[in-house]
Formats: sequence, structure tokens, C-alpha cells
Amino acid sequence: MNAVVLYMSKYGSTKQYAEWIAEELGADIFSADSFPPENFASYDTIIFGGPVFGGVIMGIAKISENMHILREKRLIVFTVGITSPDADKILADLLEKNFSDSMMKHAEMFHFQGALEYKKLTMGHKVLLKMINSSMKNKLDLHQNHVSRDTIMPLIESVRGKTAEE
Ligand SMILES: Cc1cc2nc3c(=O)[nH]c(=O)nc-3n(C[C@H](O)[C@H](O)[C@H](O)COP(=O)(O)O)c2cc1C
Repeated sequence: MNAVVLYMSKYGSTKQYAEWIAEELGADIFSADSFPPENFASYDTIIFGGPVFGGVIMGIAKISENMHILREKRLIVFTVGITSPDADKILADLLEKNFSDSMMKHAEMFHFQGALEYKKLTMGHKVLLKMINSSMKNKLDLHQNHVSRDTIMPLIESVRGKTAEE
């Protein structure tokens, strides 16, 4: 297996998950911003991780704009957000909104829980979060951290399992 982990991260939790995944798999790791599409040719397994802000997966264009290359490869996308990994309906809506048909067919999908630390947010995000919170019946806890290494294991086992069969 020749894998690369690409990530986008604003506050560090997606980067932390990406680092753990790369370490477990012995994969290369890059910020998605610094990875030119021509470099996809060097890998057979592409793992992309992006955080969710306001229902949008940050950096997902790196994948959607390169599906003509990526559909020839093993493609895994993981998202990071405060949404629980058990919230099937919310996660299905997230995919519906962010994934093209080709991505839906081709990518394997995982979701890991991130963190929220109100004090560390940018001014724009503080405002956006207040707006989101004011529209919600059950208010979001503004100090939470669910980042946990154990939760990456289903992704790791999936990558290892498929590789072993090849
Ligand atoms: C303004 C704002 C909007 C957010 N919107 C969502 C969301 O729609 N869904 C979700 O699951 N998490 C949402 N989050 C939580 C982030 O995804 C979470 O903080 C994540 O850990 C950020 O990843 P990062 O540390 O890699 O930047 C939001 C956070 C902020 C500050």
C-alpha cells in the first residue's frame, strides 16, 4: 500500500486525526493546500480529512475537482465535527450537500468527533456559532473536546483489511 493523508484544519483537531492516521499506516502526510494534483499519481490510496463548518466540509474541492484522477484510486474521506458519529441523518445530509455522485459512489466515508473551544475561535466563527446556537433548541456546549485516537481504528482496519486481500 502506498498511501497519502491530506488534511485541512482550522483549529488543529483534523490535523491531529490526520497525523495519527498517517502514523498508524506509515503513510505520507501533507496539508491539502500544499499538495499539487499531479502528485496523486505517486499513490494508490488517498485519504482526505476535512473539518465541518456550517455544514460544509472545508477543502473538499481538493477531492471533487480531481475525481477524474481519484476514481482510479482507493479514496477515503473523513470529516471532523462536533456532530456525533452516530447521527446518521445529519451525516447523510452532510454527504448529500458536499459530495458529487462520483464521490458518493467511489469514496469510503468516516466521521470523527472534534472539539469546540469558544475562546480560541476567530471573530467570524464566534459570530457564526452564536447564530447557529440561537437557532437551535438544544444549545451547543461551547467547550467540548472529543478528539480521541481510538476512534480512528475502523478507518485503519478498513485500509489494512482491503490491502491484505489484494
Ligand atoms: C462556526 C462553526 C461552525 C461549525 N459547524 C459545524 C457543523 O456544521 N457540523 C459539525 O459537525 N461541526 C461543526 N463545527 C465544529 C467543528 O467542526 C469542530 O470545531 C472541529 O473540531 C474543527 O476542526 P479543526 O480543529 O480541524 O479546525 C463548527 C464549528 C464552528 C466554530
